Amino acid sequence: MHQVDIEQKIEKTHYAKKLSDSGQLSFQACDAVLAVSHTKFPDKPPLLSPRDMPRRRINSPTGKIAFFHALAHIEFVAIYLAWDMLYRFRGLPEQFYQDWLRVADEEALHFTLIRKHLLAMGADYGDLPAHSGLWDHAEETAEDVLARLAIVPRCMEARGLDITPQMIEKFNSQGDIDSVKLLTRILEDEVGHVKIGSYWFKKLCQQKQLNHEQKYIELIKKFYVGKPKGPFNRELRIIAGFTNAEIDWLEESA
Ligand SMILES: [Fe+2]
Ligand SMILES: [Fe+2]
Repeated sequence: MHQVDIEQKIEKTHYAKKLSDSGQLSFQACDAVLAVSHTKFPDKPPLLSPRDMPRRRINSPTGKIAFFHALAHIEFVAIYLAWDMLYRFRGLPEQFYQDWLRVADEEALHFTLIRKHLLAMGADYGDLPAHSGLWDHAEETAEDVLARLAIVPRCMEARGLDITPQMIEKFNSQGDIDSVKLLTRILEDEVGHVKIGSYWFKKLCQQKQLNHEQKYIELIKKFYVGKPKGPFNRELRIIAGFTNAEIDWLEESA
């Protein structure tokens, strides 16, 4: 049952992107927005709080499976997060919705690629427990598109830009070329997602005549629990639309 559910989500996401690309999809809202709490996840994987998650090291086969399982879950939740951006925040320019649909479509592809990788290792998504915390960010930032943009693409996804190059290096040193290729592909797309997040964050700040750098700091302080975690990949973050002042602040606060 849960497999069908997952596959339908992937298929519908790709289908919506195709419709949109051929000008056959209207982003006009026809219903009132439901609360984030209405969102349903598949029965598997079971979701655990981060402290109950087993630790993983990628230098054993089971550690590698655990790593890619965790990543599959991040991508799966990322599909939901992109769709929620489209669904929840109304009255924005058409391009906003097209951009987040592109993100949803790429996240769906990432999920499929990682799932294939897991299957090749004799495992599947749903075999292990997964982190329950990712969706909390959607809940916490449901009322404010700027908070959502600051926390989801410009904090969570941006963290991927810091961590993924290190993981690519580790897999490379193990001679695991399939994992290297997969992560390299995903990293490229993720730079684009953060860039879309930065673009809309700045644009919507400008419309409200807010200083986007100050607003970013204010929102991270308000919605991010704990100190920002470094080290930060300045080079990729700059490509993804961060300013040096923002990265300086992150480094000082870490
Ligand atoms: Fe992704
Ligand atoms: Fe992403």
